[in-house]
Amino acid sequence: MSTHMALILAAGKGTRMHSDKPKVLQTVLGEPMLASVIAALQPVFAGNIFMVVGHRAEMVRKAFPDGRFVLQEEQLGTGHALAQALPVLQAEGCTHLLVVNGDTPLLSEAVVTGFLEKAKGADLAFATILLDEPGAYGRVVRRDGKLMGIVEAKDYDSKTFGAGTGEVNAGMYCLSLDVAARLLPRIGNDNKSGEYYITDLVALALEEDLDVRGIACGRDESLLGVNSPRELSHAEEIARARIVDALLSSGVIIHAPELVRVGPLAHVEPGAEITGPCEIYGRSEIRRGAQIASHCVIRDCVIEGGAEIRSFCHLEGAHVSQGALVGPFARLRPGAELEADSHVGNFVELKKSRLGRGAKANHLTYLGDAQIGAGTNIGAGTITCNYDGKHKFQTHIGEKAFIGSNTALVAPVTVGAGALVGAGSVITRDVPDEALAIARERQKNIERKIKG
Ligand code: UD1
Ligand code: CA
Repeated sequence: MSTHMALILAAGKGTRMHSDKPKVLQTVLGEPMLASVIAALQPVFAGNIFMVVGHRAEMVRKAFPDGRFVLQEEQLGTGHALAQALPVLQAEGCTHLLVVNGDTPLLSEAVVTGFLEKAKGADLAFATILLDEPGAYGRVVRRDGKLMGIVEAKDYDSKTFGAGTGEVNAGMYCLSLDVAARLLPRIGNDNKSGEYYITDLVALALEEDLDVRGIACGRDESLLGVNSPRELSHAEEIARARIVDALLSSGVIIHAPELVRVGPLAHVEPGAEITGPCEIYGRSEIRRGAQIASHCVIRDCVIEGGAEIRSFCHLEGAHVSQGALVGPFARLRPGAELEADSHVGNFVELKKSRLGRGAKANHLTYLGDAQIGAGTNIGAGTITCNYDGKHKFQTHIGEKAFIGSNTALVAPVTVGAGALVGAGSVITRDVPDEALAIARERQKNIERKIKG
C-alpha cells in the first residue's frame, strides 16, 4: 500500500526579503504565504502535511499551532531540508511524497491535483513553468527533447548548457521515498552556493535510468516563487485580481475593483456592495445587502445585510448587525457588537462593547467593556473609564437611557434603564432606573466690577 504525504520547505531565511520575519510568514492579502500553500494541499493531504522549519522556527510554529513540523537546524539547502524530514516521514509510513517550496503563495488545489495525476507512477517528477525572464530559477536542461537535469541559476552557464528555453523548475516535486533515501546521501554541495540542492536528485535519478519526469505546466502563474519584495508584490497583485474577479463573477457589486483587496479567507456574498479603495481581510463575512464605502479596513468581522460602513472606518473582530450604521471615521475593535439599527458615528471607538438595538453613539466617544441597552443615546464626548492602570471594569447602561455629552463613566458602574445623566457628569456611583444623575459643580455666576 502506498501512503502519500506532503512536505513544505519553509526553513529558509529569505535573505532577499531583508526582513526579520521568516519569508514564509510574509503576507499576501493579510495571510502568511505558508497558509496559502497549506490551504492548497489540505484538500488532498489533510493531516499528512509536514513543514520543514529552521530560521526563526518558533515564530513559524506559533503561527500554525496545529502544524506538524520537522526542524532543520542549519539551513544547508533544499536537499538537506528534505534529508532532515526523511526519517520522520519514514516513521509515519510515507511511501510517496509531494515536496513543495513554502514560498509559492499562488498555489491552488487544482494545480496540485493536476500535477499529481501526471506524476503518477514516476520515481521522481517535478513541475516546470515557462518564463520570459528565468531570473533566479533553476533551469531545466533538455537535450534533443531528453531531460538532462536542473541547473541552478548561479551555476548555469550558457556555453555548457545552451541559451536556455525559459523552462524553469517551479519547486514542486513528487518522489518515491525509497528513491529519495537512496539518492539524497549522494548529493554534494560543490556549487556556487555551497548548498545541498534538492534539484540535484534529478540528474542522479536519470543516471540510474529511473522514471524521471519534468512536467510542463506552461505559463501557470500559480507556481511563481517569492524571493524578493518585488516578487511578493507581484504575487499579491495576481492573487488580489483573481479574488476580485471571482467576486465580480459571483455577483458582488464592486466600485473601483482595481483598488479592492480581499483576503483568501474572507467571504463576500453576492449582492454585497464594496467601494475601493478598501481592504477586507481574515475570516470576514460580508453578507448580501451590506455596504462598505471607500477607505475602510476590515478584518475578521461579520457585516450583516443592510448594514452600512461609511468611509474611513477601521474594524477588527466586530459584528455589525442588520441596518446598523458605522462611520465615517469610526473604529470598532475586537468584541464590538452592534445590534440591529444601532449607530456609531465619527470618532467613536468601541472595544468589547455591545450597543443594543437602535442605540446610538454618534460622536467622539470611547466605549470599552460596556453593555449599552436598546434605544439608549450616548452623547458626544462620552468616555467609559474602564481601566485603572491594572484592571479593566465593566459599564452597564440599561435601555432607553440618555447619557449627556461629555460624561465620564467611571467603571465599574451601572446606569439604569430610562435614566438621564446630565452633560459633563463624572459618574462614579450607580444610577437607578429612570433617575436623573448630575455629577458636576453647579455653575456660579459672579458679578464683576468693571472699572471705567
Ligand atoms: C528553488 C530551486 C529552484 C527553483 C525555485 C522555484 C533549489 C536548490 N532550487 O530555488 O530550482 O527554480 O526554487 O521557486 O531548490 N528552504 C529550506 N531549507 C533550506 C533552504 C531553503 O527549507 O536550507 C526552503 C525555503 O524556505 C523556501 C524553499 O526551500 O521556501 C526554496 O528555497 P529558496 O531559497 O527560495 O530557493 P530558490 O532559490 O527560490
Ligand atoms: Ca524561492
